[in-house]
Amino acid sequence: MKVIIAKNYNEMSKMAANFIAKEIKEKENITLGLATGSTPEGTYKELIKKNLDWSLVKVFNLDEYIGINGEHEASYRFFMNQKLFNHININKNNTFIPSGIADPKIEGPAYEKSIEKSGSIDVQLLGIGGNAHIGFNEPFSEEYSTTQEVKLVESTINANARMFKNKEDVPKTAISMGIATIMKAKKILLIASGTKKAQAILNTIEGKITGNVPASYLQKHQDVTLIIDEEAAKLLKK
Ligand code: F6R
Repeated sequence: MKVIIAKNYNEMSKMAANFIAKEIKEKENITLGLATGSTPEGTYKELIKKNLDWSLVKVFNLDEYIGINGEHEASYRFFMNQKLFNHININKNNTFIPSGIADPKIEGPAYEKSIEKSGSIDVQLLGIGGNAHIGFNEPFSEEYSTTQEVKLVESTINANARMFKNKEDVPKTAISMGIATIMKAKKILLIASGTKKAQAILNTIEGKITGNVPASYLQKHQDVTLIIDEEAAKLLKK
């Protein structure tokens, strides 16, 4: 794993945007895997400023809440439109986010098929949960999991409550790419910022590979870069 330490959130965002921009310039019809949440917001802002040509780019997002549709302001479809897609020249038909209102038993395998049809994900951007989840693969997720319905743990529901009017409104389940789906990406870029992520980052990079720390599976991947800020890196020893 290659670890790059940025001074702060802004520098992390700029570095991550440069990383992705370089990939888009090298392959105009690239397939990207993208994430939602607070961490990538700055990266998307920086990417928008770069005026890249997204006309042939395809995007597959990691996950969506179950039970809400893309018009809901807390949905990940809404987030991606607001934070990125509405500001770039991407063809929205080339943007894929698992449906939160379809039957996940049908939607999961269908999502895997559409990723396969596009070849594969060239670059997958990931955030990380305080409990080291990637996508919504919470601790004890199966290494060989594919896109499926997953249960959100209490800490994730609390962390994401800020997006909803009441905590009770936060869905308890989501549909998420699995660990195996993520591991199939050719390149992975994980970004993290803040002391809240420091323990998860330590366990991911220096801990043993275990389902208890879903991001630790990334140690088995050939091409992972982590761009993390000093606060997120503060517990690293090596
Ligand atoms: C989002 C996702 C999650 C987030 C993680 C961190 O699509 O899959 O794994 O990356 O929960 O969220 P933030 O960035 O809000 O701390």
